[in-house]
Amino acid sequence: MELDLRLINESLTDIACDALVVGVGRPRGSDRARLSAPAQLLDERLGGLLQESCLRGEVKGSSGEMTSFATAGRLAARWVILLGLGDLERDGPRTLRRACATLARQLQEKGARRVVLAIDVTSLQPEADAPQTLTSLAALQAQVEGFLLGLYRFGRYRSNGPSEYEAACREVLLQVGPAQATYDSSTLETALQRGRILAEATNFARDLVNEPPNVLTPGELARRARTMAESWGLACEVLERPQMEELGMGGLLAVSRGSSEPPYLAIVRYRGAPEQAGGLALVGKGITFDSGGLSLKSADGMVTMKGDMAGAAAVLGAIQAIARLKPALNVTAFVPTSENMPDGRSYRPGDILRIMNGKTIEIVNTDAEGRLILADAMSYAAREGLTPIIDVATLTGGIVVALGHVYTGLFSNDTRLSEELIAAGEAVGEKLWRLPLDDEYAEQIKSEVADIKQTGGRPASSITAAKILEHFAGSAAWAHLDIAGTSFVDSPKPYQEKGATGVAVRTLAEFVMRRATQG
Ligand code: BES
Ligand code: MN
Ligand code: ZN
Repeated sequence: MELDLRLINESLTDIACDALVVGVGRPRGSDRARLSAPAQLLDERLGGLLQESCLRGEVKGSSGEMTSFATAGRLAARWVILLGLGDLERDGPRTLRRACATLARQLQEKGARRVVLAIDVTSLQPEADAPQTLTSLAALQAQVEGFLLGLYRFGRYRSNGPSEYEAACREVLLQVGPAQATYDSSTLETALQRGRILAEATNFARDLVNEPPNVLTPGELARRARTMAESWGLACEVLERPQMEELGMGGLLAVSRGSSEPPYLAIVRYRGAPEQAGGLALVGKGITFDSGGLSLKSADGMVTMKGDMAGAAAVLGAIQAIARLKPALNVTAFVPTSENMPDGRSYRPGDILRIMNGKTIEIVNTDAEGRLILADAMSYAAREGLTPIIDVATLTGGIVVALGHVYTGLFSNDTRLSEELIAAGEAVGEKLWRLPLDDEYAEQIKSEVADIKQTGGRPASSITAAKILEHFAGSAAWAHLDIAGTSFVDSPKPYQEKGATGVAVRTLAEFVMRRATQG
């Protein structure tokens, strides 16, 4: 059932709901929690219960803290919930987004169906007249985004009843405090919709990654790209083997040889500017299962390899968000998709492949398949003259060693592009760390028999992988996001369940929106 999500303007004491959520902060330098204006209002009806909890230190106001109070009929709401927001001045939307995600997960557990969010950030920042770090509009978007990200669950294959696993939450009503009167309703609606669009696109990507590899085959991934494109008015074409052969896509064709599933290259186009305006390319690695091929992975190493198409999911999610946000520029998403399997027909170590742009690669390890399929897709994007080209891939185990599960690895031949991506990531709460690409690293991928060697050994393996990709960007500005460490969490977090994170969807959408307005 569609979630009913809208702004309201009603008296908080009279509104009937399961959970009425108000904010409590902990301003810098303060030793106790501070109630927001709506919380103070409700506190009068509750006989000072909320204030007392703050004074006693039971409510600390720290970010993500959630304390429920049964109203026992003193308000129309069943529970009042104090949501801790920490130091909003310092942490801004990031803390609010995450707190709302945590809140959504806990309310889901409690079975709340109708939720009212009355989070007035104005009253939690110092001096009401001073410029506010976090505007009510940004706060509205962050709340919606966080709440919907937190509500996400992948329950499709669980047979237990809806109460157990399906979203209980049906209605989310928002009130952003007195500031609501200072903006016109379409401005408020836009902020709310932005949050909704970004979260839904992220959840769409999460679904793709969480789908098991027996369901989400390359053919199914291409179908879902097409269905998504059709629902949002995007053009979509899907290249098949004969066209790949004609184009000389030796990388994608080789990687798919060991699989009984054919490869595809899905191309989804968003037009927000005149055709001749060029545009930017998003390229996502779409390996629906990575066994390693003949250079077979260990059993343990394969367990999460259904997620080796998280880059593909990210660019499809991003272009979905872009289609709904309608920026004035052109964006094309390229999704090369294949399985990587061992078979009598598999490609082999020792093989030399020719990529679409003519460069040859000496294969040393069939488990380094991502760079090969990306090389063909990037060559295709470069041939169209698109710039920048941004690829997203679960490319290397090395990036997990280097940056763990916190930062996405960023590699680029263009400093301005890197800075824009890092800034976009910061705005949406996704961390990117740039790593070097100096030419000294190219030594490791020199081949005696081909233009490039496929891998550079263990030292700096994420960098040498990126050095290979660099060969296929042509003259475009290019950035590569290695999301092997950030696309998947293997234990549940307060703000999200175990599994796909949908990382990079919101960073890419934000990046494109900024480009469209700042030129
Ligand atoms: N899909 C893997 C990278 C990966 C590892 C993603 C762990 C998520 C978690 C990639 O195709 C791969 O196997 N890379 C190898 C390359 C090596 C054989 C040169 C790696 O990085 O170990
Ligand atoms: Mn691999
Ligand atoms: Zn892989």
